[in-house]
Amino acid sequence: MMNRRKFLYGAAGLGAVGLAATMYQGTGFSEVISGKKLQMPPLLDATQSGRFELQAMAGSTDFTGRGSAPTIGFNQSYLGPTVRVKRGAVSAGISNAINEPVTVHWHGMLIPGEQDGGPHQPIDSGESWSPELTITQPPATIWYHTHIHGRTATQVHAGLAGIMQISDGRDGDRGLPNSYGVDDLTLVLQDRRFDENGQMIYMQNMMDVMHGFTGDTMVINGQVGSVASVPKGIVRLRLLNGSNARIYSLGMSDNREMHLIATDGGYLTAPVVLTQVQLAPGERIEILVDFSSGGDVSLVSGEDPNQGPGGMMGRFQQLRNFFSNSEFTIIPFVVDERIASTHDKIPDALDGRELTMAGAISTTRHLSLDMGMGPGMMMRGMMGGGMSDQMTINGQSFDMNRINIEAKRGAVERWIIRNDTLAHPFHIHGALFQVVKENGQKPRPEHLGWKDTVLVEQETELLVRFDHKASREKPFMYHCHILEHEDAGMMGQFTVS
Ligand code: C2O
Ligand code: CU
Ligand code: CU
Repeated sequence: MMNRRKFLYGAAGLGAVGLAATMYQGTGFSEVISGKKLQMPPLLDATQSGRFELQAMAGSTDFTGRGSAPTIGFNQSYLGPTVRVKRGAVSAGISNAINEPVTVHWHGMLIPGEQDGGPHQPIDSGESWSPELTITQPPATIWYHTHIHGRTATQVHAGLAGIMQISDGRDGDRGLPNSYGVDDLTLVLQDRRFDENGQMIYMQNMMDVMHGFTGDTMVINGQVGSVASVPKGIVRLRLLNGSNARIYSLGMSDNREMHLIATDGGYLTAPVVLTQVQLAPGERIEILVDFSSGGDVSLVSGEDPNQGPGGMMGRFQQLRNFFSNSEFTIIPFVVDERIASTHDKIPDALDGRELTMAGAISTTRHLSLDMGMGPGMMMRGMMGGGMSDQMTINGQSFDMNRINIEAKRGAVERWIIRNDTLAHPFHIHGALFQVVKENGQKPRPEHLGWKDTVLVEQETELLVRFDHKASREKPFMYHCHILEHEDAGMMGQFTVS
């Protein structure tokens, strides 16, 4: 039964910055409406200069109006700028001004292992790293985040992540909205928990340890309770699930259509019409939404299937029955007629690459994602011992000194991923894949494009193509993108030669 809540928000609210925050309890989710206009991350356009700089820095952020929390960001106190780059050589200058090592991994960038910024490339406190990025891939919305083994979840939770756009400057020709923050909105979705003084609460209970951290308050681009204002026309939304563990099932509150134009690897060959779309940690999608009818609506989400009660079948049902239970607001939209609308039509076709894999399948590999739910683990978890080394792939917990897979450059491999209990978002560095089968069936429509991350419910079959080299010293990673699972060992590494 659909239970769509109409977001009641007067047109007068748009200018009502500083409006007293109203708060109501929805479905265990605290929904705060501050009335403030949603801000985009600052745009750092490096398409002309071919260079950009990021500095990891400590800061403080007042998310809730109840007090400032210590946070970390790139070039600012929480999260980082949207870095826009184009094909060719790009010089990145990264420096670390916080008091522990960080890395900067370019999630979704197709580059050799030594540029990848994974766990083997820590930047110590006070040090810097200046990779030359050789960008050859088509346009895509990707992201960057820290990747220190064992500290990724904590550091990303504190704010060390940002959006990156690979652009060719031709979105106008494609008929796509491309005015940053006007009709082309970037939305970084994160869930957090706050105490009465506005401090972030992290890893409080056994559930956080086992399922990964989930919060009860939405934070969009580092802001709580903001409202996005949009022109009365077609608007492009670039969504990143930057949460540590929460899986979103997204839709519009009035069930209006969303036109999927891009997934992790970039544009599709044509828009796909959906009214619901799943977004697991690490995944990106771009959708077009038509606001020409005016009325205020919200982007909403169904409950996270991994957090619900019940065993595997309960979860599986929830993954299938969208909105079968509680839903909550991700972000409300207000149509502002003062913003010029420049697009009133959804393009019929896009220039994304066809899902074809040249070359024969050289190898089939089976990977099993396991949580080691034995009594010993339960005991350690309850005693506060944490889950380190308890999460495995094919029975092995991540080891910096072990290469798990050796792949050949140009090869296409079949990877069959299985899981034990929870659904796990599976990510591969330095390669794109095609989802061939999910749970024995045709993949979900939102999984039809080129991908680098996909939620594995039971069993997922991928065709992966390895085009970029990675050495034993700087290998690529594959892992669960529930960051607490990754830190606890659900990760492996591979070379490409
Ligand atoms: Cu987004 Cu290995 O990570
Ligand atoms: Cu990655
Ligand atoms: Cu996982």
